[in-house]
Amino acid sequence: MKHTFASDNYSGVHPDIMDALNKVNHGHAGSYGADEYTTKAAEKFKQFFGEHVEIFFVYNGTGANVLGLSSLTQSYHAIICSDLSHIHVDESTAPEKFTGCRLMTIPTRDGKIYPDAIEDRIQRIDDQHHPQAKVISISQSTEYGTVYSVNEIAAISAVAKKHGFYFHMDGSRISNAAVSLNRTFKEFTSDVGVDVLSFGGTKNGMMFGEAVIFLTPEVAHNFKYIRKQGMQLHSKMRFISCQFDALLSNERWKKNAVQANTMATLLAEELRKIPQIKITQSVDANGVFAIFPSSIIPALQEEQFFYVWTEKTSEVRLMCSFDTREEEIKSFVKRIKELIA
Ligand SMILES: Cc1ncc(COP(=O)(O)O)c(C=O)c1O
Repeated sequence: MKHTFASDNYSGVHPDIMDALNKVNHGHAGSYGADEYTTKAAEKFKQFFGEHVEIFFVYNGTGANVLGLSSLTQSYHAIICSDLSHIHVDESTAPEKFTGCRLMTIPTRDGKIYPDAIEDRIQRIDDQHHPQAKVISISQSTEYGTVYSVNEIAAISAVAKKHGFYFHMDGSRISNAAVSLNRTFKEFTSDVGVDVLSFGGTKNGMMFGEAVIFLTPEVAHNFKYIRKQGMQLHSKMRFISCQFDALLSNERWKKNAVQANTMATLLAEELRKIPQIKITQSVDANGVFAIFPSSIIPALQEEQFFYVWTEKTSEVRLMCSFDTREEEIKSFVKRIKELIA
């Protein structure tokens, strides 16, 4: 299939990651994480987040989010999140099934949630009849391709701390956010009070694998059981660990995210020159959201596929990836111009 703008997980595996998989594919190694590669990858994470953090590898982002949230909640709790969040929109009812919790959503225009709206959503604390809010969950970068500033995260964290809540971050695109902010991972997570982080690998060049990182290690104490119960304990763990080791080495995570973000910026710049197209969101990371003339969409999708985000307004989502190149953007924009003419 030709290069698409459908999703950053339409792309394949970065060659460095494939090499890493090949390199560890010899002989026997301890299973379920009792292997030297898992120890090495966990050490790498500690270099980024500090010695005290607890790291657990899982298969996918849904698993990371759902199980991370499970470790923070009882089934009478509620999780506050945006109405666009992956946990609400794109994980079926896995969060509800595994945590038993109510998802309390906040309407969002830009993918983010803000302290005032969160405060408004916190109701009937200590009321035995009402779901008890316990976690605030945000996505960084967001499902709309926007990125929270450090101050915005700190402000949400202050609300969480004030009420004695935990703070969870869905970082399936955390590398894109780090590049966008030009900050270290730590500066916009543990330094500003995030307790549990889903650290994404798949969208940034891995074959599969995500990490649940307990930045507040006390809450990790039951997680090994939760991960097994949640069917996310990989027996041949070395094949997830070696990928993370490669991703976190030689700034591979950064190079991949820089490429994806730069291409999204370029794509947006080109689209802005076309009067019939309107960019709808701030292009902070690797996603571009735009309203296209509906008549051109089917033919354009045939050429380089992408998803329509909102049918009614013909708003589309265009995702760039570590393997998006300038030529692909040029051919896409050229085709748009031909179809509009
Ligand atoms: C914001 C966000 N979180 C998490 C995920 C991970 O999902 P999956 O379970 O498909 O790996 C995705 C993937 O689309 C996502 O966009």
